[in-house]
Amino acid sequence: MKTVHKITAAAISASLLAGAAFADGDFDRQIKVRKAHNTLFSAATGPLNAMVKEEMPYNAEVAQRSADNLLVLTQFDQTGLWPEGSDNTQNETKSLPAIWEDFADFEDKYTALATAAVDLQTVAGTDLATMSTAMETVGGTCGACHKSYRYSDK
Ligand code: HEC
Repeated sequence: MKTVHKITAAAISASLLAGAAFADGDFDRQIKVRKAHNTLFSAATGPLNAMVKEEMPYNAEVAQRSADNLLVLTQFDQTGLWPEGSDNTQNETKSLPAIWEDFADFEDKYTALATAAVDLQTVAGTDLATMSTAMETVGGTCGACHKSYRYSDK
């Protein structure tokens, strides 16, 4: 079974704000990339959620591969993807201005996901019950951030 080395949550960039990786003032690309990044989060968690809900049978190999992918995704360096001003009041995005009112908390919420993804990756291939418990924590970290920082019309 493929193992991904444990990397601590500290690998998450200390500042997602820093770095002029993209031109200032034109946020289309940053928004597109961070949406794509989040879409990949659901691509990785999709099979795991389906197993948790028993919509598909538990498969240790698929579970491990999905958890490996999620871990890699949480280590993607997001420097430059969250520039100030790229919120939903001025752009085609669901990112709330609240992100930039407490950016440290936003980063903490990413770190919480990264930490949970490490734990999940360690146990995903064990059995359904163990994987489900770890997935509950992962899902909780997705939800906690979306609740505070993602616009929802629901
Ligand atoms: C630290 C905050 C944070 C965490 C953690 C987080 N997200 Fe998100 N997510 C966001 C924000 C903010 C947006 C809105 C992005 C935008 O429109 O600019 C978003 C958008 C999305 C979208 C919509 C993408 C699109 O095309 O519009 C999906 C799907 C998604 N997240 C899934 C997930 C999943 C699954 C997880 C957990 C594995 C997760 N996210 C963890 C903040 C987070």
